[in-house]
Amino acid sequence: MDKLFSIIDSLSAGRTLNFEQFEYLVSHRSDEGARLLRTHAAAVRDSIYGKDVFVRGLIEFTNICRNDCYYCGIRKSNPNLQRYRLSEAQIMYCVRSGYDLGFRTFVLQGGEDGHYTDAQLCDIVRQIKTEYPDCAVTLSLGERSYESYAALREAGADRYLLRHETATKAHYEKLHPPEMSFEHRMQCLSDLRELGYAVGAGFMVGSPYQTPADLARDFLFLQEFRPDMVGIGPFIPHTDTPFKDMPAGTLEDTLYYLSIIRLLLPEVLLPATTALGTIHPLGREMGIQHGANVIMPNLSPTDVRKMYMLYDGKICVDDDATDCEKCLDLRLEKIGHRIVTDRGDKRTATEGGASYDL
Ligand code: 5AD
Ligand code: FES
Repeated sequence: MDKLFSIIDSLSAGRTLNFEQFEYLVSHRSDEGARLLRTHAAAVRDSIYGKDVFVRGLIEFTNICRNDCYYCGIRKSNPNLQRYRLSEAQIMYCVRSGYDLGFRTFVLQGGEDGHYTDAQLCDIVRQIKTEYPDCAVTLSLGERSYESYAALREAGADRYLLRHETATKAHYEKLHPPEMSFEHRMQCLSDLRELGYAVGAGFMVGSPYQTPADLARDFLFLQEFRPDMVGIGPFIPHTDTPFKDMPAGTLEDTLYYLSIIRLLLPEVLLPATTALGTIHPLGREMGIQHGANVIMPNLSPTDVRKMYMLYDGKICVDDDATDCEKCLDLRLEKIGHRIVTDRGDKRTATEGGASYDL
């Protein structure tokens, strides 16, 4: 049998792949192979989650960041950006309006902003969990100490998103300044896991200097670490960063990798990201059709959205939360999916009911 198809078969049957097989899968994609992978990925997703798509209300509460990642628009060395912080009251306002729209998960995301103390952050988490005990709180605050992660978990945070960005140390060092370390990133992920968070990892597709071997190591890492959530989206250059002239990641690559990840981790919570919706007007819908099952609309106040520009051209910055909600409902309905109003926890293959036979 053709080597590509035999690898796709192994992956679809739940067998472990090795480095060489992942690298082959990445570098020998064919149209027919990609179609087959997509069919399997959508079937596996349907067998566990049906046509349900989970929504997460994203609150970008600060664009101030101590880091200087070469790819990121809110890096500290970008002087052309108006910086903002939301107060506790503003964050709670976003949560309340999100709750009324049907959101049951709130993602607090921000740059690595030292202004907010652990005590303040814990307070916000506790307030959300007390007012809305039926909701999940996800944090995406970058690298912190074990003690800080522990305090936030104790305060009630359920999940934590920290993309590993790349599982290859040498590649990590090409994307980040010397003050940042690959080992620390990985340590954070294992701390979060140990503390009982549902953990999200992930990487950018087509990030500068990424090779098929790097991607193979990303998949090997995901296969071994088995995160509960995986965020991937195309790299998109931002004009005020050192990577402004680097090419963007592609739609085709991102969709192909979404399908691979769904098959690798059948139960994973897998968002069709805003970056995917930015490189193609129907990117998020296509993401769902390739195996994704989560969408993360923006709940941040409209006046600050333009200031949370990680990359050029980010979508939805002129709409408000109600517009996004209606727009997504309609978009998903068109492709035969529906948004569900619950916490959207990870389901297991047996809970989904229907089984998936190859
Ligand atoms: N293009 C695409 N994704 C980006 N991110 C940061 N900058 C960019 C960019 N220029 C992603 C990173 C980060 C997440 C919050 O956003 O992977 O972890
Ligand atoms: Fe803020 Fe990268 S520039 S985390």
